[in-house]
Amino acid sequence: MSTSSLPLPLPLALPPHTASMLDRVRTQCASGRTEWQDCKDPETTVAVERYTSSAIYEQEIDKLFRGLPLIAAHSSELQAGQVLAHDGYGVPMVLSRDQNGVVRAHLNVCRHRGTRLIESTSAMDKASIVCPYHGWTYQLDGKLRHRLHAESFDKKECADEDLVALPCEERYGLIWVIPQAKQDMASQPIDLDSYLGELNSEMPFYETENLTHFRTIEAEYPANWKLIVDAFLESYHIRVLHKNTIAPFFTDGITAGGTFGSEQDGKPHIHSLVARRAAQAWSERPDSPLPTNIRELSELVTPSQVIFPNTITIFHPDYLSLITLYPTSAGTFRWTHKMLIPKAQSGSDWAPHWEKTFNLIEKGVFQKEDIHTTINIQKGFASGANTSLRLGRIEQAVAWFHASVAKHTDCQTASAV
Ligand code: FES
Ligand SMILES: [Fe+2]
Repeated sequence: MSTSSLPLPLPLALPPHTASMLDRVRTQCASGRTEWQDCKDPETTVAVERYTSSAIYEQEIDKLFRGLPLIAAHSSELQAGQVLAHDGYGVPMVLSRDQNGVVRAHLNVCRHRGTRLIESTSAMDKASIVCPYHGWTYQLDGKLRHRLHAESFDKKECADEDLVALPCEERYGLIWVIPQAKQDMASQPIDLDSYLGELNSEMPFYETENLTHFRTIEAEYPANWKLIVDAFLESYHIRVLHKNTIAPFFTDGITAGGTFGSEQDGKPHIHSLVARRAAQAWSERPDSPLPTNIRELSELVTPSQVIFPNTITIFHPDYLSLITLYPTSAGTFRWTHKMLIPKAQSGSDWAPHWEKTFNLIEKGVFQKEDIHTTINIQKGFASGANTSLRLGRIEQAVAWFHASVAKHTDCQTASAV
C-alpha cells in the first residue's frame, strides 16, 4: 500500500469539551462506576406518536428541514468545476463548485419553463449549466449567461433570470445548505458560528476536512428517521444487539456526552464518547498519555456526534462514517452512509481494504442489526402495545434529542422529556 509523502499534521491539543468528556470516561473506567448509575434523574419517555404522526412529520419538515442549516455533502464529493444534483431534502437542488473553489447551492429548476437542469446526483465536470429543454445557459454561480433567440424575450431583472440561490456554506469539510428559497436570504451567510456554538472549537481536532469520500450507500427504509438517531445516541444496546459484531470492542455502557449549539436553539447537537475496551487499561495507568490526535483518541473511545437534526458522525479508529437521514414520510426515511477515509490512504491499493471494512460495518452491523431493529420497532407501533417508549438513565442522550426536536417543532413532546 502506498504511503503518504505529505508531512504529518502537527499534533493538536485535545479541545476543551473532548478533554473533559475523556476525563469523565477515565473516571468511570477507573472507578468501575458509571455516571448513569449515580444519576438521580427520573427515567423519561417518548410518545409513540412522535414516530407515527403525519402532523408531526409535517412540522419536522417545515421547521427542521427547511429552516435549519443541513449537511448535504462532504467537500471531497465536489471538486472545482463540478456540479451535482441533490434531492434528499425534497427540494431539487444543484450544488456547484466554481473554479475558485466557491461552493453554491441553487434550485435545480430552469427559470424559463422550469425544467430540471442537472440529472446526476454524482459530481460531473461542467463549465456551465445548460438546460436540456431549450438550452438556457447558466454560469456555475447561477447567473444566466445565454439564451437561444434571446430577442424573443423581454429583459427581466437579474433576480428573475438567474438560478434561485439557497444559503450555502462550507465548513469542516462539510457542505451546509438551508433548502428553502427566501427573498434576500441566499445572500446571507449561514451563521454556523452561532448554530454550532462550542462545537466549533471541537471540530478542527476531528479533521473532517482532511478526509476524502470513498463510498456512499443509499436506501429507503420503512421506519421513522428519529429511530435511527435514537440508536446512535445510546450504547445500552451494544452488548446485546451487536454481541456478535462490534460489542467485543466496547465497554458496557461507559460513555460521556453533552449538548452543543446556541442557547437560543436549545443546544441541539450532541457530542459523545463511547469507551472502547482499550480505554480500560489506559484509565488504570496514572501515567497514560493523553491522545494528541483523532487517530489516538479513536483507539480509546469512539467519538460520535448528532449534528442536529439529521446527520450522525461516527469516528471509527481509521475512518469516518457520515450518516445523513432524509425523512420521506412519518414511517419512511432515506439512509445515506458515506465512508470518509484519510487522503493518505485513498490510493487504489487501499480500495480492497476499505471495501471490506465498509461492507462489514454497513451490511453486517448497520443494515442487519441497527436498521433491521428500527424497522421492526416501527412495525410494532401499529400493534398498540406501547403508547410511549421508555428511556432509562443510561439512554439520557435520546431524551435530549427528542427535547430538541420538540422545541424546534413547537409540538407537544413526550410526557417527561
Ligand atoms: S425550460 Fe429551460 S430553457 Fe426552456
Ligand atoms: Fe447500534
